[in-house]
Amino acid sequence: MPDLSINFAGIKAPNPFWLASAPPTNSGYQVMKAFDAGWGGAVWKTLGVPVVNVSSRYGGLNYRDKRLIGFNNIELISDRPLADNLREIEEVKKRFPNHAVIASLMVQTRQEWHDIVRQSQDAGADGFELNFGCPHGMCERGMGSAVGQEPKVLQMIVEWVMEVATKPVIVKLTPNISDITEPALAARRGGANAISLINTIQSIVGVDLDLYAPYPIVDGKGSNGGYCGPAVKPIALNMVKNCAQHPDIKLPISGIGGIENWRDAVEHILLGASSVQVCTAAMHFGFGIIREMTSGLEQYMVEKGFNTIYDMVGKALPNVLHWEDLNMKYKVTANINADKCIGCQLCYTACEDGAHQAIRLNTGTRVPEIIDENCVGCNLCSLVCPVEQCITMERTDDGTQHLTWKERTAAGAAPTEFNDERAGGRHHWVPEPSAALGKERHKTLPGRARALNEEFAAQ
Ligand SMILES: Cc1cc2nc3c(=O)[nH]c(=O)nc-3n(C[C@H](O)[C@H](O)[C@H](O)COP(=O)(O)O)c2cc1C
Ligand code: SF4
Ligand code: SF4
Repeated sequence: MPDLSINFAGIKAPNPFWLASAPPTNSGYQVMKAFDAGWGGAVWKTLGVPVVNVSSRYGGLNYRDKRLIGFNNIELISDRPLADNLREIEEVKKRFPNHAVIASLMVQTRQEWHDIVRQSQDAGADGFELNFGCPHGMCERGMGSAVGQEPKVLQMIVEWVMEVATKPVIVKLTPNISDITEPALAARRGGANAISLINTIQSIVGVDLDLYAPYPIVDGKGSNGGYCGPAVKPIALNMVKNCAQHPDIKLPISGIGGIENWRDAVEHILLGASSVQVCTAAMHFGFGIIREMTSGLEQYMVEKGFNTIYDMVGKALPNVLHWEDLNMKYKVTANINADKCIGCQLCYTACEDGAHQAIRLNTGTRVPEIIDENCVGCNLCSLVCPVEQCITMERTDDGTQHLTWKERTAAGAAPTEFNDERAGGRHHWVPEPSAALGKERHKTLPGRARALNEEFAAQ
């Protein structure tokens, strides 16, 4: 059996799955229940001077039949007295000494930082996570993302914390910034032991069309909130990758954002995370999701021959290049498997109106046909096709050539003028504009495409 245990910047846990600082880690009751279910660690709901929250606090983005593909909140840090939280941290640590309990912290002054770090240490916390990410409410008071957006202030606060911390310090970053590596570098300069990302994305999740107010609604009004859940995973993955690839950051990364199952977790790990944190999925489906997460991860590791989590960390990073380093000679075209096709013709509409007019309808069958000469291999049809593996992208170059944009530019072979003959689309057929109208359309199509369309038009 593979070993799922981790040592994250000195914080040990039986597995890499931690609950993120949020409502699921609001109390000792919840954290104990989560550990009992199988979670490896928990970052406590952020501690500080307790707040007063509004109601309601959450908004959701539903997509067709899926609830909460995105989740939005305007709640603040813990509203419970610090002493209650610390007493429960102590209790949890006594009962679960081998699990990771991390105190998430957010205060203002140097003295407050020193006091809360010392008190959390005394309560037995295994480490700290500095919350420089909350994008609503707390930032108006000069904390949360207001710090995460100011690398110099962030660095200064990390230095204050490092003056008294005897346990590892993780800096939690806000995605509400143009370059995530800047605060990550500031965290490193300040002496932090690790970073975690992402916190929530500043957002308005929707507007009530009758009340003219953004969700969630508080007495007829609303405020921008923090966005998370499955919809933010792509943003989180990119930011995790940016930090993992940066040559000067070199800190362990706890990946957060849109993790709902073991696959999401593995994606974060392959891009450089060595622990992962989950919030929305635990709020949506409860702590029980951990069973599928750990068994799925174990199974994947067995299949791939990974003995430890560290065998996988960053495994995809060498394959994440800059665009200019991709091979422009690699070509694919779409291929429809007629046996799987259900004849919905979504691919035809997508390619016809949204891509390169490379799919043709046939009479007598609802299975469309790819016009190979026109297909640029963009993938759109295979993405819209509702049947798995019905449209596949098949390689059409012979694999012997390799040319990147960088090499092309260096060789003086890249287009440099507006009407350059070397433009990529120069020799690719597009229909005449007037062919869009009525029966004239088929007359402008070249070669095989025209033949096929004439045949179709005649039928
Ligand atoms: C209702 C709610 C409250 C949150 N409170 C905190 C908090 O107190 N401290 C913190 O660092 N992050 C907080 N977060 C952010 C989460 O820890 C996490 O970074 C974010 O939700 C992204 O993960 P997810 O996509 O798994 O939800 C909160 C998120 C939600 C939804
Ligand atoms: S989208 Fe897929 S299933 Fe629908 S017609 Fe095209 S190939 Fe067939
Ligand atoms: S890959 Fe793009 S261009 Fe080719 S058929 Fe599909 S949608 Fe059209």
